[in-house]
Amino acid sequence: MNFFLKVIKIFPPEAAHSISLNSLNFLYKINLLNIFFKKISKDEIITFANIKFKNRLGTAAGLDKNGDFIDCLGSLGFGFLEVGTVTPVSQQGNNKPRVHRNFKENSIINSLGFNNKGVDYLVKNLKKRKYDGVVGVNIGANKQSVGEKRIKDYLICLEKVHEHADYVTINISSPNTPNLRDLHKEDYLKELLEKINTKSKDLNISKPIFIKISPDENNESVRNILKLINDSSITGIIATNTSIDKSNLMQDNFKTIEGGVSGAPLMKRSTEKISYISSLSKSIPIIGVGGVISKQDFNAKVNAGAGLVQIYTGFVIKGPKIIQEILSI
Ligand SMILES: Cc1cc2nc3c(=O)[nH]c(=O)nc-3n(C[C@H](O)[C@H](O)[C@H](O)COP(=O)(O)O)c2cc1C
Repeated sequence: MNFFLKVIKIFPPEAAHSISLNSLNFLYKINLLNIFFKKISKDEIITFANIKFKNRLGTAAGLDKNGDFIDCLGSLGFGFLEVGTVTPVSQQGNNKPRVHRNFKENSIINSLGFNNKGVDYLVKNLKKRKYDGVVGVNIGANKQSVGEKRIKDYLICLEKVHEHADYVTINISSPNTPNLRDLHKEDYLKELLEKINTKSKDLNISKPIFIKISPDENNESVRNILKLINDSSITGIIATNTSIDKSNLMQDNFKTIEGGVSGAPLMKRSTEKISYISSLSKSIPIIGVGGVISKQDFNAKVNAGAGLVQIYTGFVIKGPKIIQEILSI
């Protein structure tokens, strides 16, 4: 496995991602995955947002944008998976290179821009899945959609995915779709949440809906977001997405790269958001994500108030062994 991780580093980041997931999927299909990656931890059933989870550790959005690897990732021992971000219409995303691995700092900078095959493709994969664990779907807006059209994109996706998802995440926090983060502002968010409330009522949606926020909002903004959420049909918060703040990166050549920082340099900032949210509300369900590279980081998220924890960069850097590292007692 260590050999595989060393070899894969030679490939450009997006090719490495695709080769890694397809290799895991191949092993899964020939029934060898669980021989290479034995599940050594026992599942502990967690109830969170009225759903039962096998354990607290899940994949973060972006790892499997189109739901192509649900059964394979599920069989590695994750307690849940979040697929997406998906948009109504398929799109290419931003120009390459748009993923930069910073191995020295256990970090990635990405400016992908919601490259995905569109919501209908994802729904087909959701319908086909054999994995019996929880699958959340993260939804977003197409790059060209602005104003009313942008809100409509979320509603289109919500309508298409809710029957096939265990929960839905409204992603307002990608830094790589122009002005998307404006949706954190009171007026914009109020309008978005009102429309989501109406849609949820019209369609009788009973599945939990989460909002995924940016780590770059200040406390006042987070407090306002929480107030708006309390008056809405939103169940909880996912904290956080990537950060555009590169000031704490140690290597200067990474500071000028456009995109969002994930991995170790994000850990403190995103965990502080969890602590702040849980200091304002003890009851709001929080999914913590950002910088979990070790079991210690995972525990820090839980201690800060996260009921569930997601990983992306830690999985890319350490491979599937990080799952057992985190879940072992
Ligand atoms: C290459 C890459 C692509 C991502 N794509 C998405 C995405 O499509 N939607 C989303 O909500 N978050 C996306 N994220 C953010 C992750 O879900 C997560 O919030 C962030 O990376 C922090 O977690 P980590 O430090 O464990 O990576 C992406 C992150 C990376 C590194």
